[in-house]
Amino acid sequence: MRDMVLLYGEEFHRAWGAVVPAIRTGTSGFEHAFGTSLHAYLRDEPDAGPRFLRAMNAGNVFFPEAAAAFDFTGARTVVDVAGGSGLLLSAVLQAHPHLTGTVFDLPHMLPVAERHLGATVEAHRYETVAGDVFDKVPAGNDVYLLSRVLQDWDDERCATLLANIREAMEDTGRLLVLERVVATDGTAPVLPLLWDLHLLMAAGGRERTLAGYRSVLGAAGLRLESVHPLALETSLLVAAPA
Ligand SMILES: C[S@@+](CC[C@H](N)C(=O)[O-])C[C@H]1O[C@@H](n2cnc3c(N)ncnc32)[C@H](O)[C@@H]1O
Repeated sequence: MRDMVLLYGEEFHRAWGAVVPAIRTGTSGFEHAFGTSLHAYLRDEPDAGPRFLRAMNAGNVFFPEAAAAFDFTGARTVVDVAGGSGLLLSAVLQAHPHLTGTVFDLPHMLPVAERHLGATVEAHRYETVAGDVFDKVPAGNDVYLLSRVLQDWDDERCATLLANIREAMEDTGRLLVLERVVATDGTAPVLPLLWDLHLLMAAGGRERTLAGYRSVLGAAGLRLESVHPLALETSLLVAAPA
């Protein structure tokens, strides 16, 4: 929680200070305030990446629920794409002892995942792989996890990274997306709407409606198969090859 308070009180407070130009232009408040994107800042500023991941951990109470919401019985291998802290993969591997898994992320983030996985999962059951999701992701695995990643990118970037996942997946594979879904039926849960604004300020990203997720998945050759509600107004979206 300490790191969340520091991140929101410092970097994200400054990003929100640029709310007017961000809303006028659609470019992130963070870029207006810092002259660089959030992810470039996390790469270039000493300790900013690990601090950001520790802050993300304050809002991940739904990871164990996500591990239980999908039937992993027929799967053997799981890749957490842009898996950050490794805590989602750790929750999945702890809940399903027959699985092995990979955290895939940018190189400066992997030490955090290695620390968390090393403390919770047997060494032979996981690995970490450095790479860029806009280039390619590890191929031939049964289940791909994508948690709180699409939220940071516009539709075009999402279609690119999703197409890379689709290319890496077997035809029998599944992609599990964890995101907030903006309601269109008048029930209006408040977090997705507030987070939609926050994501514009922090990363130039957005929350999407179910139709929005269907659209970016469809552009990458994937179809939405099912939706499972999780805590904190988050959803698990299961996608399959179209
Ligand atoms: C909002 S965090 C989500 C982390 C984790 N999936 C979770 O739910 O806690 C976004 C993650 O995307 C990673 N990321 C950003 N750009 C990336 C890229 N080009 N290739 C791979 N990972 C990237 C970041 O390093 C970070 O770990």
